[in-house]
Order: sequence, then C-alpha cells, then structure tokens
Amino acid sequence: MILVTGGTGFIGSHTCVQLIKAGYDVLVIDDLSNSHEDVVNRIKLITGKKIEFIKGNVCDYNLLTDVFRKYKIDSVIHFAGYKAVGESVNKPLIYYKNNIDSTLNLLTVMRNFNVTSFIFSSSATVYAPTGKVPFSELSELGKCSNPYGWTKYMNEEIIQSYCNSNSDFSAVLLRYFNPVGAHESGYLGEDPQGIPNNLMPLICRVSLNIINELTVFGNDYDTEDGTCIRDYIHVMDLANAHILALKYVNGHKGCKAFNIGTGKGTSVLEMIKTFEDVNKLKINYKIGKRRAGDVAKLYADCTKAKKELSFTPVYTLSDMCLHSYNYMKLNYMKGV
Ligand code: WQD
Repeated sequence: MILVTGGTGFIGSHTCVQLIKAGYDVLVIDDLSNSHEDVVNRIKLITGKKIEFIKGNVCDYNLLTDVFRKYKIDSVIHFAGYKAVGESVNKPLIYYKNNIDSTLNLLTVMRNFNVTSFIFSSSATVYAPTGKVPFSELSELGKCSNPYGWTKYMNEEIIQSYCNSNSDFSAVLLRYFNPVGAHESGYLGEDPQGIPNNLMPLICRVSLNIINELTVFGNDYDTEDGTCIRDYIHVMDLANAHILALKYVNGHKGCKAFNIGTGKGTSVLEMIKTFEDVNKLKINYKIGKRRAGDVAKLYADCTKAKKELSFTPVYTLSDMCLHSYNYMKLNYMKGV
C-alpha cells in the first residue's frame, strides 16, 4: 500500500489516479486545509476505485502511528505541506512548524515501523535564484527568497541526513518546476482555496470573469518579450514522474534528487497567448510592476530524470491551457 500525504491536493490527487492505474493500493491522509474531501469521490469516478481516506494532519504523531499500525504501508509519497509563497512571508512560523514537523514526524514513524521507501515533493525553489539556467541538480542550492522555499530546502537536508544515517532507507526528492494543467476528464484540477498566487489559476479566473483583469508582473526583464520565463509542466506528466520514482526508489538505496520539468522556458505573455489561442478567448491583462522575489528565467535541465527515471514529459503547453480551462468551466460554472 502507498501512503500519499496531501493526496486530495492538486498534485497529490492526480498522482493517486496514476498510482491506482499502475495497480497500487492507495491510502490518503489529508487535513483538507487546501483541498476538498469530494476529490476522493472524483478519484473514484476516474479510476472506478475508492481509495482509503483519513482526514488528519501529518504533524499528529499519534494519528500517524495509528495509521502505520492499522495499514501495511510499503512506501510513502509526501505532498502534505503549505505552499503559498506569499503567505509564507507573512506567516513564517506556521510554515516552518507545519512543513518541517510533518516531515520529521513521518520519518520517525516510518523508522518505528521499518518503512524505508520515501518520495518527497520538493521544488525548484530550493535552487539559489542567482543560478544560471537551465538549472541542473548540481546547481547551487539555498538563498531561498521565501520561507516556503526554505522549508523545502530544509526538508531535503533532513531527508539527506536521515539517509546518511540509515543505509536501509531510500529517498527520492522530486524538484517540481511549475506544475499546471488538469486531468482531461475535468474531475480534477488546480483549485486553491482563497485568492491564488500562481499564474495559471489566475488566468483561468480571468477567463471566467471571476476576476476582472490579470496583472503581468513586469515586462522589463532580460527576456525576449520582457516577461518572466518559467518551466511549466503538465500535472499528469508530474504524476507519472512519481510512478517512475516509486519504481526507482524501491530499487536503490540512499537519497537522490531529480528535476521534474520540460526543460523548455515559456514567458508569461506566451502563456497568455497560448491560453487565448487554444480556448478561443481573450484574456484581459495589464502590465504592472515586478513582483518581489521573481527571477527573470527559471527552467530545468531534466537530463538526469530522463536518464535515470526514464522520465519524458508528453503533454504540451496547449494541453496545459486546454485542460486547465476545461476543469474551471466544468467546476466553477457549476459553482462547485
Ligand atoms: C509564474 C510567472 C510571475 C501571477 C511558484 C513557487 C514555486 C512553485 C511554482 C511550488 C512569474 C508571473 C504570476 C500574476 C504574473 N510552487 N505572474 N501575474 O513564482 O514561478 O513559482 O509556483 O513548488 O515554488 O515559487 O509561479 O505561477 O506564481 O508565477 O505575471 O498574477 O507568472 O511573475 O513570472 P512561480 P507563479
């Protein structure tokens, strides 16, 4: 059985679908702080299988111990954590406590039950923003621009230290670049609670007139059209990367990090234009000031994941825009 913490969240839920399709039994623990329990039903609608779901926070040591006592857990995929960059600047103590305690708890309980296979949801935000593109796994780490990024960096250090002290333990750190898109069924997608920070959910809200206008944060960067470049990856490609990582982690010992991106950079204006073209609509936007902490270019060198995980993304930028809009239309229009 695979324990998926944060499994009703954006990336977690899509990964649960692919785990079930790959023949795994899935147990989800999630406190629903940034997702909805209805996602469990939607995973069943897509796969025909009901997953085991426990509402709870991974920081709850006793709950976690009970879970490991009750279920035969073979591997853990750890998504659970707060992830809003802006919020982390305003609420650093909550971010450090939740995102670090959860990992420490999980590793402790895994040790108590001799579970030695672990995949961690990390992020490109662990790379020093001053680094050169494309970022490889050997690029400089740290100098994170926000507490959220530091929690990912610190968690990686904790997991690496634990692997160094325990030769039986095997961990994979997946450093996501910019996850976007949705399951093509429209049952699952990115639907953060409150006002989103990220570009794609905001473009989707503008497309449905939920918000009136998108602000492009600066067009005076050192890029072709002056707007920031990022490496957007479809959430289904990202989910599939976890299936490959699960196979890898059960065949190797130690701690390995992999970039999960497409290796292709896309500017904000290119994303807007692609969204408009594939969905045949106009996105209302204006050019505003730069956002603090943004870097001009951030995209991946993914050769290591391709070579060692046999990971190759298949979804295009058009798929990302089409599936994101499809999800929003099917859910927001119905006021879900
Ligand atoms: C993308 C681009 C903005 C909103 C963050 C986290 C990272 C990861 C992905 C979890 C930037 C521009 C955005 C808007 C805009 N999350 N933008 N107007 O900042 O690259 O990365 O999400 O791991 O850790 O840091 O993503 O979607 O916020 O921004 O112009 O209203 O869109 O300036 O260039 P980001 P984003």
